[in-house]
Amino acid sequence: QVLQDLQSSPARCPFHHSGEGTITDQVDPTGRAISANAAAFDAFEGPYQVDPAEALRWSRAQEPVFFSPKLGYWVVSRYEDVRTVFRDNITFSPSIALEKMTPNSPEANAILARYGYAMNRTLVNEDEPVHMERRRALMHSFVPDELIRHEPMVRRLTREYVDRFIDKGEADLVDEMLWEIPLTVALHFLGVPEEDMAKLREYSIAHTVNTWGKPTREQQLAVAEAVGKFWQFAGGVLDKMRADPSGHGWMQYAIRRQMDLPDVVTDSYLHSMMMAIIVAAHETTAHASANALRLLLQNRDAWDEICANPSLIPNAVEECLRHAGSVVAWRRLVTADTRIGDVAVPQGAKLLIVTASANHDERHFENPDDLDIYRDNTTDHLTFGYGSHQCMGKNIARMEMRIFLEEFTKRLPHMELVPDQTFTYLPNTSFRGPDHLYVRWDPDRNPERRDPTILKGHAAFEIGAPAKHGLARQVRVAEVSQEADGVIRLTLEEPHGRPLPSWTPGAHIDVMVGNYARKYSLCGGRENPSRLQIAILKDEAGRGGSTYIHHTVSPGAMIRIRGPKNHFRLDESAEHYLLVAGGIGITPIIAMADRLKQLGKDYTIYYAGRSLASMAFIDRLRLDHGDRLHLYAKAESQQLDLNAVIRSAPGDTRIYACGPERLLQALDQIMQDQPERLHVEHFSAIGTQLDPDNEVPFEVELKDSQLSVQVPADQTLLEAIRAVGVDVPSDCEEGLCGTCEVNVVAGEVDHRDKVLSNAERAEGRRMMACCSRARSGKLVLAL
Ligand code: HEM
Ligand code: FES
Repeated sequence: QVLQDLQSSPARCPFHHSGEGTITDQVDPTGRAISANAAAFDAFEGPYQVDPAEALRWSRAQEPVFFSPKLGYWVVSRYEDVRTVFRDNITFSPSIALEKMTPNSPEANAILARYGYAMNRTLVNEDEPVHMERRRALMHSFVPDELIRHEPMVRRLTREYVDRFIDKGEADLVDEMLWEIPLTVALHFLGVPEEDMAKLREYSIAHTVNTWGKPTREQQLAVAEAVGKFWQFAGGVLDKMRADPSGHGWMQYAIRRQMDLPDVVTDSYLHSMMMAIIVAAHETTAHASANALRLLLQNRDAWDEICANPSLIPNAVEECLRHAGSVVAWRRLVTADTRIGDVAVPQGAKLLIVTASANHDERHFENPDDLDIYRDNTTDHLTFGYGSHQCMGKNIARMEMRIFLEEFTKRLPHMELVPDQTFTYLPNTSFRGPDHLYVRWDPDRNPERRDPTILKGHAAFEIGAPAKHGLARQVRVAEVSQEADGVIRLTLEEPHGRPLPSWTPGAHIDVMVGNYARKYSLCGGRENPSRLQIAILKDEAGRGGSTYIHHTVSPGAMIRIRGPKNHFRLDESAEHYLLVAGGIGITPIIAMADRLKQLGKDYTIYYAGRSLASMAFIDRLRLDHGDRLHLYAKAESQQLDLNAVIRSAPGDTRIYACGPERLLQALDQIMQDQPERLHVEHFSAIGTQLDPDNEVPFEVELKDSQLSVQVPADQTLLEAIRAVGVDVPSDCEEGLCGTCEVNVVAGEVDHRDKVLSNAERAEGRRMMACCSRARSGKLVLAL
C-alpha cells in the first residue's frame, strides 16, 4: 500500500512565476547570491513534477546553470550545456548516476544491510578507463544483427496483448500492455526467466523511489524492504545463470565474458547490473511508450498522419522521445573546478542535467514546444544521454515503440484518450511516465472487422535512428510572385489548413527537388502560422535546383519541404546590430531586421547587389526600415566599404551577414581579431562534398573511445566514426551548420566547412566531421 500511495501522487500545483530575477539572502557554494527562482526550485513537487521542461523555462532564459539549495545540486537546463556535460565524462564523472537522491534513515539502511544490499558500479555510473573497457566487452548483444532476433517476439506479444482488449472498447494501456511487454522483452534480452511480473513491477518502483525519489521515513522502510528483496532476487537469478551460462541473454554473455576478463566484468558489476538493468531496460521503455501514445492522441493531426502513413512512425517516436522523454534528468559529479557556459562550478559539485529542459531549448530546436513529427533534427534529443555513456539499449526501445505504434495505428486508428482523466506520476527527479493511460474506441469501427487482411504483413523499420530520407512534409504553393529580376517569391501553405511550424529569424527550410534538398531562408512575416515564404534566385551556374523550381512551380503545385531549422540564430541580447546582405542573402537578413525593429534595437542594414532591379524586397525594406537601410548597386557604381562601416559602429556591435563567399570572406578578414562578433550564413556548399577520386584515405584515433578508425577515400569522417558505433550528430552534412563539430586533439585538418572562421581554423582544435579531412597522416579526436 505504501508503494501504491507513492505511485499515485497526483501532478498538482500550477506554475509559479513569482520572484523573477529577484535575489534571496542565500548564497551558493561559490558565494554568489541565489535567485528567488533558484531558491524555489523543487525537484520532487510542484511545477517540475507537472512538466519539467516548462518548470525550467525561466532557467533556460535567465539562469541556465543554478544551484538549488533544496536539492543540493546544480541544475543545468540548456541544450548546449547539457550536451557539453555529457560529452566530457572526465570533468563530469557519472559516478553518482545511481546514488540515492535522498539519504536513508538509519532504520532503512539497517533493512538494506539485512539483505546484504551492495549496489555498486554498473556501466552507467562507472568511470574511465574501466567503463569503456567494460562497455566494449559487452557491446556485442546490441549490434543490429543481434537485436533483430528480438523483433518477432515484440510483434507477437504486441499482437496478443491488443487481441485481449480490442473488442472491449476501452483499456488502461499502461496496466494492460505497456508495462508488461517491455518487461517481458527486457527479461528475454537479459536471459532472465519470466518471473512474477507483478512482483517485478513493485521492485522496479521501489528501486526508482530508492534512487531518484524522496520517500518519507515511513515509505523508506517499505522501499528498503522491496529493494532488499529485489537485490536478493537479482543474486538468485545470477547464481542460477552461473550454473549454466550457455543461454542467449546479455547477462549470460556477460558471465561468459567474465571468464576472459575477470577484472573488467567483476562479480560486483554482475550483481549490481542484474538489478539495475531490469529497471533501465523496461521501465524507461514502458514510460516512453505511454508518454508517446498520450502525446500523439492529444495531437490528433499527428496521429492521423501516422495512421495514414506508417513510414512516419520512426521519426514520430523520436519526436515523442524529445518532447516527452521517459528519462527527464541525469546526474554527474564535477571532478575539477570548471565552467559550464559562463558559470563557474566548483569541484565536488553535483549536477542535475535536465534533459527534458534541454530538449525544449529553442536555441537548438525550432518551436520546441510543438510536436512536429517531421522535425528532422529530432534525433539530437538527449533523452538517451549523449557521448560515451549514451544508452546502449536505445535501439531496442525504438524497436518496441515503433511496433506498438504500428499496431495501434493499424488496428485502433479511431482510439482516443478518455477525456478529463488526471495523469499521475511517481514523484522523482528522473523517470517519468503516467501511472495509467485510459483510452476508448467503438469496437464496431475496428478496421479488422471489415477487412481482416489488414492484419497480414507489417512495415519494415530498420534498426537504429530514423532515416532522414523521405521525411518531408507536403505543402501547397499558394502564390508565386516576381520579386526582382531572376527572383521569385513563393508562399507555401499546409494543404489541410493546419498551422505550419513556427520559426525564428535566420531559419531556413529545405525544398526537396527529387532526392536533393535546397536550402532557402524564410523571409515572410511570422504572424500567419499557416504560411511560409521563401525567395528563390534563378542560379544558372548552380546545380539546377533553382532553375527547375523557377520553370515548374506554379500556384496549386505540391512540393515537399523539410524544416524549419535555424543555423543562423539571432542573439537578441546585444544593443547594436549591423546586418549585411549580398544579393539573395537578403532573405534571412530581412527577417532579422523585422525582428530587431520589433525589439526596438539599434540596427542598420547594408544591402549590396548587381543592380536595383535584381535586388529583392527593396520596396518592402524601404517601407518597413526607412533610413536604417543602405543600398549599394554595382550597376550604379555604388560600393559598400565594409571596413569603414564596421569601424564606425560601436565596439560591441553584432554583425550578421549572408551573401556570396567573397563578401563573407572579406568580413571574416576584417573581424579576425573578434570572430565572436561576426555571424554569417553561407548558402553555397560548393567544395564541401566528398569527391572520392580526389581524396586520400587517412587514419583517425578516437581518444576517449580508444578506437582507431580508417577513413577510406570514398567515405566521410562522419560515416567512418558512426560505423564503429560512436554517435556524432549531424544535420546538413554539407559543412554548413556546425552540428557535426568534433574536437581535435592532434593532427592537421583539411577544413572544408563553411562554419569555422579563419582564426578558428588556424587554432586547429575543432573540425566538422561531415566534410573535413586530415591534411596528412593521422588525426586524434576527443571522442
Ligand atoms: C544508459 C535512457 C532503454 C540499457 C542510459 C542513459 C540514459 C538512458 C539517459 C544514461 C546515458 C548517459 O549517461 O549518457 C534510456 C531510455 C530508454 C532506455 C529513455 C527507453 C526509452 C534502455 C534499454 C536498455 C538500456 C531497453 C537495455 C536493454 C542501457 C545501458 C546503459 C544505458 C546498458 C549504460 C550505458 C553506459 O553507461 O555506457 N539509458 N534507456 N536502456 N541504458 Fe538506457
Ligand atoms: Fe552540418 Fe556537418 S552536419 S556541418
